[in-house]
Amino acid sequence: MEPEDNVCLCFKVSLRKLVTHLEVQTPRCASQMSECFGAGTGCHWCVPFLTELHRRWQQGAPLEMAEGPEEYAARRVDYKLAKKAAATPAVPAPGAPAPPIPPASPPSV
Ligand code: FES
Repeated sequence: MEPEDNVCLCFKVSLRKLVTHLEVQTPRCASQMSECFGAGTGCHWCVPFLTELHRRWQQGAPLEMAEGPEEYAARRVDYKLAKKAAATPAVPAPGAPAPPIPPASPPSV
């Protein structure tokens, strides 16, 4: 990933902006990366990457991401689809039997 590539795709926050944020704002914890243009506060896909960037910065390691922007964006699409599927309630297929009604709980005494 190049410095101008976006790490937070929701808010278009580039790797360069995040590196500058680390160097200038010196966030004490990874969650403070969100103070850089709201990074990580949308779909949350980039949060592990923000956390890793913060960890590397604390350790003095190179602030780079090996993954290419196209692969990164494609994996985010999969993430969002999986997240949407998990949030969508299951709908029975047409003609399928109705789900069983749970037994009534005994009256409390
Ligand atoms: S990609 Fe960063 S919050 Fe969605």
